[in-house]
Amino acid sequence: MLRRLAADDLAALAALEQQAQPRSWSRDMLAGALAGADTRVLGIESQGRLVGHAIVARLPFEAELQALLVAPGHRRQGLAGELLGAVIEQARCWECERLLLEVRAGNEGAIALYRRAGFIEDGRRRGYYPPRVVGEGREDALLMSLPLDRC
Ligand SMILES: CC(C)(COP(=O)(O)OP(=O)(O)OC[C@H]1O[C@@H](n2cnc3c(N)ncnc32)[C@H](O)[C@@H]1OP(=O)(O)O)[C@@H](O)C(=O)NCCC(=O)NCCS
Repeated sequence: MLRRLAADDLAALAALEQQAQPRSWSRDMLAGALAGADTRVLGIESQGRLVGHAIVARLPFEAELQALLVAPGHRRQGLAGELLGAVIEQARCWECERLLLEVRAGNEGAIALYRRAGFIEDGRRRGYYPPRVVGEGREDALLMSLPLDRC
């Protein structure tokens, strides 16, 4: 089930971030996103447990996908695609012109997902991300966007 998350989902959201992501959002950042007037946190549940979420922020003319995460045991079942579809709907309802995102240039799975949803590549920020693993170099950010129609 896909739904908008609220303040009382914070514990489950923070647990999912910590379990599934090495550089996870802090509890304070997640609480800020849940409370923000210009952010939406969408979650997807399986058997009553939160297994994925997306965070989207409203900017003056555009929206930005700030996080998208599915728990490792639930990947390749279409859940991120569902979350992304709901994010796109939200951005359309805000009457945003484009949905923007940044992704690690080596994150092939996420890039394939975004391309399949119609995102195009707008550019690259060299060395934007800190190394994913100690000892590796910094990683480029790929800047992507999806033009939006009004809802
Ligand atoms: C990226 C991520 C959100 C994808 O979640 P998911 O639920 O597995 O994605 P979906 O099942 O909806 O995938 C839809 C399509 O995207 C593409 N895709 C997704 N993951 C992929 C992978 N690892 N390799 C190649 N293609 C992939 C495929 O085209 C897939 O369709 P298919 O399964 O029919 O081939 C998930 O792997 C994740 O949480 N990764 C860690 C966090 C992250 O990188 N987030 C993105 C930050 S920008």
